[in-house]
Amino acid sequence: MNDPWWQTAVIYQVYPRSFADGDGDGVGDLSGLLARLPYLASLGVDGIWLTPFQPSPQVDQGYDVSDYCNVDPLFGTLQQFDQLLDLAHSLGLRIVLDVVPNHCSSEHPLFQQAIKSSPGSAERALFHFAAGPDAVTPPNNWQSVFGGSAWSRVNPGSDSDLDWYLHLFSSAQPDWNWRNPLVGDFFADVLRFWFDRGVDGLRIDVAHALFKAEGLPDAATTGAVIDGLRSNPLVSDQEEVHEVYRRWRTLTDSYTPERFLVGEVNLEPHRAARYTRSDEMHQAFAFAFVRLGWDTNEWVAVGRELEAARLEHGASPTWALENHDIVRSATRFGGGSRGAARARAGLLAILGLPGGAYIYQGQELGLPEVEVPLAARVDPMWERGGVSRDGARVPLPWTVSPERSHGFSLADSTSSPWLPLPPSWGSSAVEVHQENPDSTLRLIISALELRRQLAFKGVLNPNDAGAWRVENGNLLICERGSDFLVAVAMGDEPARLPTGSAVIIASSPQAVEGWLEPDNAAWVLQN
Ligand code: GLC
Repeated sequence: MNDPWWQTAVIYQVYPRSFADGDGDGVGDLSGLLARLPYLASLGVDGIWLTPFQPSPQVDQGYDVSDYCNVDPLFGTLQQFDQLLDLAHSLGLRIVLDVVPNHCSSEHPLFQQAIKSSPGSAERALFHFAAGPDAVTPPNNWQSVFGGSAWSRVNPGSDSDLDWYLHLFSSAQPDWNWRNPLVGDFFADVLRFWFDRGVDGLRIDVAHALFKAEGLPDAATTGAVIDGLRSNPLVSDQEEVHEVYRRWRTLTDSYTPERFLVGEVNLEPHRAARYTRSDEMHQAFAFAFVRLGWDTNEWVAVGRELEAARLEHGASPTWALENHDIVRSATRFGGGSRGAARARAGLLAILGLPGGAYIYQGQELGLPEVEVPLAARVDPMWERGGVSRDGARVPLPWTVSPERSHGFSLADSTSSPWLPLPPSWGSSAVEVHQENPDSTLRLIISALELRRQLAFKGVLNPNDAGAWRVENGNLLICERGSDFLVAVAMGDEPARLPTGSAVIIASSPQAVEGWLEPDNAAWVLQN
């Protein structure tokens, strides 16, 4: 049997509200995406992952879903989605959608019924409702990922209804109770709805957190919030969650072997890999990678851990350096011109590693994190916890001219974009990159073309192992197969490439043959 396409796919993440605004209301939408689809096809990616566009009050920019099987009028219609699917498929692009099974919106009809029902009712049993020891103390000490208690009172002030409900994220995102089998049946229908429409894959939001420890006991520490979700054994990574993915794998495979599931499993590599055993999800993002600095030893340690997880569980690595929740890599890697060079090198590097890779919109333009003015910030994490993810979500610049918000808006309008574009944005516009042969965009297009050719010639194979090492303290190497390696110069001095190296693509031109300048990556053939 052929190796499945997704195993080596490069998928481009579209954050719809910031990609392209077709109707000029300041928020990106499906008609904008439809119009810009040829751009995505021209990159040479295999598919696109769309973050949520389903009906939602938009408290968490769509991750608070009030109807799992429709399109929010803010983004368009189901008919437009079908058009998008058809056009994408005709351009050779697969479509991956987000499914948010840990929580819904507090406006979801089932949650609305639950709050109108009495404590102990079947309606409330779909969620986590519980009374605290008294009217003002929540049932346990869990903290929300977005800051503050993970519990809110249903009817503050009522003497007869002392229930609280659990929300790992904002109070507008009540957690489903996955111990109730009706919840599993509800989501099986959601998966079928989108697979029946023809989507190729689903990205599963907060995939490791659906089940909470039985009885919802207090945590030993109320500790750091994001970390709490990752490492708090009560809130996430319960054994029961794997049954969900076994069921979903059977459901997914009942369509075609081409459909797939990718999990947001924000755990250490050896735990995350258990979610991609052969009868569970197909992929899980290599999250350990997005926490790395620009440091050879850190990269090698995590690379080896992921490789060990691959050997133990068959987990196919899935690389990503950015997404809509993370500070842009150009800024994370130090900012300024060095940060920009490192982000570009990092992207070229992950595209050469064995496995699949995800590119977040704007990464091909080298966009840095934006310091969004305080008054313009809308992320609920900012409001509850003082951390804002808005800076990675600013609308894309398409044109140098500031007109129509640097081309983000495709229609004449006076509406401002939902997040302001910084004055520097025009210099990173798509059209600037398209015209400059040395741009990051052109580099990525060349790299993806080369990746296809090397796969065709059998130089790159889907099941290649990755052997990680550091040479001379400043050169990171991941060797795959016998004659291909990815090299990244992470020190302050040029790094000597291994003897017999022929560079086939580099993130910027080599000054001296056999050497890689600092903050640069190269794909190398060995002879
Ligand atoms: C995921 C999403 C993030 C969202 C959270 C809650 O981590 O990527 O944007 O806020 O889930 O749904």
